[in-house]
Amino acid sequence: MRSQRLDHGTDGLNSGVWPAQTDRLITPTEQFFTRSHAPVPSIDVGTWRLEVGGLVDRPGQFSLAQLSRDFPVRDVTATVVCAGIRREEFLSLGPLPGELPWGPEPISTARWTGVSLAAVLQSVGVSSHARHVEFIGLDQVARHGHTFGFGGSVDIRKALQGDVLLATRMNGEPLPPRHGYPVRAIAPGWIGARSVKWLGRINLLEEPSQNYFQARAYRSQRQIAAIDSRDVSQGVALTVIPVNSVIVDPAPHTPMAPGTQRVTGWAIGSEGEPLRSVEISADGGNSWSPATITLAGEKWTWSFWEGEVTLRAGNHVLAARATDTRGSTQPATLAETWNVKGYNNNAWHRVPVTVR
Ligand code: MTE
Repeated sequence: MRSQRLDHGTDGLNSGVWPAQTDRLITPTEQFFTRSHAPVPSIDVGTWRLEVGGLVDRPGQFSLAQLSRDFPVRDVTATVVCAGIRREEFLSLGPLPGELPWGPEPISTARWTGVSLAAVLQSVGVSSHARHVEFIGLDQVARHGHTFGFGGSVDIRKALQGDVLLATRMNGEPLPPRHGYPVRAIAPGWIGARSVKWLGRINLLEEPSQNYFQARAYRSQRQIAAIDSRDVSQGVALTVIPVNSVIVDPAPHTPMAPGTQRVTGWAIGSEGEPLRSVEISADGGNSWSPATITLAGEKWTWSFWEGEVTLRAGNHVLAARATDTRGSTQPATLAETWNVKGYNNNAWHRVPVTVR
């Protein structure tokens, strides 16, 4: 199967490459998915400064050169997963107006290089009242008559844990403009929306970010609100990614020959948790057999697996499910994971195939 870039819209801001290559952990930068809510801002790195303020002892401003000079530079290999992943499957349950119908393609992995958020926060002195760390981007998103930078927060535990990066490089090169040049946050194991691109400001707060993209979007709400059916402000803000797995090959509706066939795909645990098992089914999830990990991931990445199914002539539904070492597994049905804006679909991945 040849990989191709699938575009949502014509502005080039939202696209992903499908199928993923299952023989390498790192996605080449030109094949990395991209999700941007507004055009890529043009930033003059000569005048650009990262402001760090809010509940800190000594508010600071850092140039790009200062960041790499004053703090240890390190690498984190991490998979970024958009919360909109596999949303199109929910469309079988009803429309999701205003939401991009992503398939399984908005997930990619890179080696990110930068400085640890924790180190920068320690340098400005974190107040004992700070509970959340907010990232604000320099893009200009228009929503409901307001224009503002995309933003969101992680809690202070995550922020100080060490692996949250202020990344300046991706796969050994400076961040390309569409992936957040000059600096982006990388919050491994959390939904992609918290890995804010084009960072302009970091605020330490007592409460979670009030940015639209945390307070009114990227929230899981299963009850449709009475006045505005698209309003999810009463839902729960999304944080960690759930355990998930996807069958990459065969693609849906691929004609297959009878007999024993190879099935391959990816799987990822919740928030960096190792995988305990990946299983595949040739009968829509009635019976399961173990898949084998063919390429084990690193702490914050996906892994790849393969398994075999034996098929007779006819129509079949293949399925995959992963379980991580904490015991988190994927729900059987879309109905169990459905929410108003169609986020974080991790139901068993089902692929219909015809055997003849
Ligand atoms: N940061 C800014 N400033 N603006 C954005 O629109 N999109 C977020 C996040 N960071 C976004 C952002 C979302 S929803 C995702 S999934 C990731 O960026 C995608 O990162 P990528 O485009 O590098 O793949």
